[in-house]
Amino acid sequence: MAARWIDPERIESAIAALAEHGAHGETGVARLVYSPEWVAAQDQVAAWMAEAGLRVERDAVGNIWAYLDGRDREAAMVVTGSHVDSQNPGGRFDGALGVIAGIMALSELRERFGQPERTLAAVSLVEEEASRFPTANFWGSRAIIGRIAAEEPKRLRGYDGVTMAEAMRDAGLDAARIPEAKREDIGTFVELHIEQGPFLERENFPVGVVEAITGYRQYLVTLEGAANHAGTTPMDMRRDPMAGAAEIIGGVVDTAHRMGRPCVTTVGRVNVSPNERAVIPRQVAFTVDARSPLPEQREALLARHEALIQEVAERRDLRLNLRVDSDREPVRCDPETVAVIAAAAEAAGVPAMTMTSGAVHDAMQMAEIARIAMIFVRSRSGISHSPDEFTAAEDAAAGIEVLARALHTLAYRP
Ligand code: GLV
Ligand code: MN
Ligand code: MN
Repeated sequence: MAARWIDPERIESAIAALAEHGAHGETGVARLVYSPEWVAAQDQVAAWMAEAGLRVERDAVGNIWAYLDGRDREAAMVVTGSHVDSQNPGGRFDGALGVIAGIMALSELRERFGQPERTLAAVSLVEEEASRFPTANFWGSRAIIGRIAAEEPKRLRGYDGVTMAEAMRDAGLDAARIPEAKREDIGTFVELHIEQGPFLERENFPVGVVEAITGYRQYLVTLEGAANHAGTTPMDMRRDPMAGAAEIIGGVVDTAHRMGRPCVTTVGRVNVSPNERAVIPRQVAFTVDARSPLPEQREALLARHEALIQEVAERRDLRLNLRVDSDREPVRCDPETVAVIAAAAEAAGVPAMTMTSGAVHDAMQMAEIARIAMIFVRSRSGISHSPDEFTAAEDAAAGIEVLARALHTLAYRP
């Protein structure tokens, strides 16, 4: 096999260097948006972009852009990139690999082919995970497409009690200027990301070409009953939100299990109040994250979840607040860009499998204003959103070469 365009060892050391910002244990990262660790990581990214000979710009929300300017300044840009924030804690590859890939791909294209016809950009997006602010998802890409509501920065409060506007100020940014980050000059957006699932490993492919991204809805379910003594209150006289939560949690997870692939439902966060051994709780609040890439299946799944939640709350005489925090239909990737990526994989001699993304991505937001596509790279044991996340540097190098070759096709042809 011919040598890869990008040396795997360079990728490995870049991943390790970025992971120092917000390091969590041996292999994890906790890099929450606008935290000091996050600022340091974005500064590192900006330095790499400048070292690669790219023109660097920071926008009003904190995204960092690196340009390889094209001959035709009127033509829409071809953009690649991903996010630099992490789960709390997460792994060192989720988002970070796509940011590093973008810089390396543009640097390689500049050295091999010089100036492109259309401007190429690599972007390091500020936030995708909603790990600091429960409903912030896609903060960076939403700013780019103009989908951040004016009151959001003051309304969003993080798990640490700080508002988004305050967090931005701490990072040297002014939330009032977010609208300036909106763009209308992006023609195509290609995101490279780790797969975060088991399929590439199982089928023995280093790289995946994504055809569609799952749709999802995330709820916060709050059930309120009456706190009372755990010993003296007969079972039939209780308004117990824990009993209701248990029934709902079991029910929604079972529903997705029974409906079968590709739908999935997760309850990942539960808050109990007062959370005492001998007290029937007053309130139980929990998240429900339900997904399917098939539009009809997603609708059916959500309808069954919502019916169950209503029915249990009513029957158990619990006050229900059902809040939708995020909601997105499945997104199809642009078939022509998908074909460009498949051809790039073939040219690079990289076996690639077409697949669907079960994770949500910034590319879904960018789909509102641009043609999008994604390149996946194999994850070890399919593990992600965990410090155990791992992708081999050789697989990353294969993916980045596919990305670079695809960007070449998209940006260098007159
Ligand atoms: C993104 O991180 C997701 O939750 O899929
Ligand atoms: Mn991600
Ligand atoms: Mn993630």
